[in-house]
Amino acid sequence: MAEKILPFTKTELEEIITHYPTPFHIYDEQAIRNNVRKLLTAFSWAPGFKEYFAVKATPNPHILKILQEEGVGADCSSLPELILSKQSGITGENIIFSSNDTPAAEYQAAKDLGAIINLDDISHIEYLEKHVGLPELISFRYNPGPLLEGGNDIIGYPEEAKYGLTRKQIFEAYKMIQSKGVKRFALHTMVISNELNPDSFVATAAMMFDLVVEVYQKLGIRIEMIDLGGGIGIPYRPEQQAVDLDAVSQGVRKVYEDKIVANGLHPLKITMECGRMITGPYGYLVSTVLHKKEIYKNYVGLDACMANLMRPALYGSYHHITVAGKENLSLDHVYDVTGSLCENNDKFAIDRNLPRTDIGDIVVLHDAGAHGHAMGFNYNGKLRSAELLLTAEGAVKMIRRAETIEDYFTTLDFEKCEMNLAAATKK
Ligand SMILES: Cc1ncc(COP(=O)(O)O)c(C=O)c1O
Repeated sequence: MAEKILPFTKTELEEIITHYPTPFHIYDEQAIRNNVRKLLTAFSWAPGFKEYFAVKATPNPHILKILQEEGVGADCSSLPELILSKQSGITGENIIFSSNDTPAAEYQAAKDLGAIINLDDISHIEYLEKHVGLPELISFRYNPGPLLEGGNDIIGYPEEAKYGLTRKQIFEAYKMIQSKGVKRFALHTMVISNELNPDSFVATAAMMFDLVVEVYQKLGIRIEMIDLGGGIGIPYRPEQQAVDLDAVSQGVRKVYEDKIVANGLHPLKITMECGRMITGPYGYLVSTVLHKKEIYKNYVGLDACMANLMRPALYGSYHHITVAGKENLSLDHVYDVTGSLCENNDKFAIDRNLPRTDIGDIVVLHDAGAHGHAMGFNYNGKLRSAELLLTAEGAVKMIRRAETIEDYFTTLDFEKCEMNLAAATKK
């Protein structure tokens, strides 16, 4: 069971809201630090183990800095993500650039930073060589195709996924870069997403270790690093269980010994690029109930919308909801909890049992710390909200201000509006 408790009381939230109006995301620094330490400790047996945080999950330099202090690197997929990492003190091979459909300028920036470039296709070898030049170390993203049974709602089936090189291409690709003078080799995959079953990670590691051995046996090429991707899930639902990282680690260790050590290929650096499990459970979307509506169903309307947290609308995902101060009341009301977008799927919850909820109540959506604020957008003229940090010392710090209407108009050649914008944004 996953406990769904808030790291702040209703009174503390009310105090925060007097300084920072809802909606906002707030992250719990100490909980993030403790969590990442758990992952690193679990894999401390693995030679040179490195977690490259998937920047796309929470692209905020303050969060990246915290992770950098804990020894975590960055998994980037775009130029802005590379810049965010660099500005947060993450550089060189502490960055893996795992992009797809990538323009030359972004490869150039990655190479200039000394990042590990992870190519998504065999044709990108020539593209990289022509536009940027080949670096000393190259990684390839492996798509195992129908070899891997299963899949899930988010990642789908590898053979249907646009990512990576086929098994046959992997061998051709290593041969090709070796002939072009590349000296160091890495291998990456990302075949599972939001997965709670530890066996899936062990199976992925076993598949990758087998490939490392086969590449060595067939080509004489020694891969120095494998990246098992992200994809460790989090218990969004209270009845779910967090992944037992020690069980994953021990399972991976066993296959490492059976395959890598047994074939004389120790040490092989093992890396991951988790996003969701690092920050997801430790970020909260805080909003206020603006309206209630009773028609064929009962609705609670928030001042947040799917522009603040898109996962429920996009994937039908469950996010637990706490009505601050009503934690101990019985869940004897059923509501659809909605946002203000002109889209009927702008619902944070459908038929959710909650305590009686009233206008002005503070509603907190759990597990919004990864792929939450980051997936925000401006459709319908919605503005992206602020991000706050509950610091390890217990203070609250704004780490990204909310967008303003002026921000929304900055890319337009647009006559200045004479309206009083402050009045126009009042709730
Ligand atoms: C290449 C790559 N690595 C890592 C991640 C992070 O995944 P997660 O946040 O589920 O751990 C993603 C997510 O989209 C990804 O595409």
